[in-house]
Amino acid sequence: MIPFIVMTNQCNSGCFYCFYNDEEELSFGKEAINKKSLKRFLVKAREDLSDEIILTGGEPFLVPWSYDFIKWLPENNMKASIITNLININKEKMIDAKKGIKKIITSIDHHNPKVNNILRKGSGRTRENLEFMVEQGFDIQINVVITKINYKDVRAIYTNLKPYANKIFFQPVGLDNPELQKKYGIEDLPREELEKMLIKLAPWAKQENYNLHYMRMNSYLLEGEKPFAPCQMGKEIFVIDYDGSIAPCFRRHDLKAGNIHKDEPEIIMKNLRDNYEKLDSPSCFTSKCFPLY
Ligand SMILES: C[S@@+](CC[C@H](N)C(=O)[O-])C[C@H]1O[C@@H](n2cnc3c(N)ncnc32)[C@H](O)[C@@H]1O
Ligand code: SF4
Repeated sequence: MIPFIVMTNQCNSGCFYCFYNDEEELSFGKEAINKKSLKRFLVKAREDLSDEIILTGGEPFLVPWSYDFIKWLPENNMKASIITNLININKEKMIDAKKGIKKIITSIDHHNPKVNNILRKGSGRTRENLEFMVEQGFDIQINVVITKINYKDVRAIYTNLKPYANKIFFQPVGLDNPELQKKYGIEDLPREELEKMLIKLAPWAKQENYNLHYMRMNSYLLEGEKPFAPCQMGKEIFVIDYDGSIAPCFRRHDLKAGNIHKDEPEIIMKNLRDNYEKLDSPSCFTSKCFPLY
């Protein structure tokens, strides 16, 4: 299984639509996951884990020991794919940790840095750092969140950002808060607008081999249909939160499988497997699940 590790709840950006601004259970703070407990868990659960782990946040590179931790991973035949806003990176340390990095997944919502900065506040340094990472030969994926601000530009975003990335991933914004939904959400756009946007995205889905994801976006946005195949969360992927708690999915706080500070990894992994049955996926699908399916 691939652990999705929330390294910290701290962030140096301010994306209006961020899950952290939208969900009652989440709030930004200054907490980071405990390094010792995390390493212990990864080593002890190694047999159940894939060679890839995913680091996210908040902003994972705000954790001072993140580079050393990434450097340590290859000792256990692991590498990290890191979801980062690339605002604040230490270039020397990044190169030094390269062997432990499988992929850099960075979040950019518009090729025009000024528009990107409206959606993703404080992202001024992202482009410069992205160019550096490309020069250094890192495997780059760019995640684009589609909102009311950028939905008309999806084709231009793809064309302009593609030279920087091996993969580009588009996903609709997922929001619960009605005010944020009204301002940024795309689900309430007129059908013709959604159709036009989906037509603009068709070449992207074909070229990047995201046909299934694209079909799901079509069915959900145009017909309100949920996927019928079960979700991979809790089966192929699970979440380790910054407080050490483990759950099958970001949204299923009710199905905690244990905590890396006090529970034995084998018990946690067993609980995760047992809990998968209780997920009842895909009935729990919401628009926030797109990046996870
Ligand atoms: C929570 S961020 C953490 C990692 C890092 N700070 C970043 O932004 O890349 C992980 C991913 O979730 C996306 N995201 C945040 N809020 C979202 C929302 N409401 N709907 C869809 N995606 C969202 C971000 O754009 C980013 O790609
Ligand atoms: S950079 Fe990431 S964690 Fe920070 S506000 Fe934006 S989406 Fe949220």
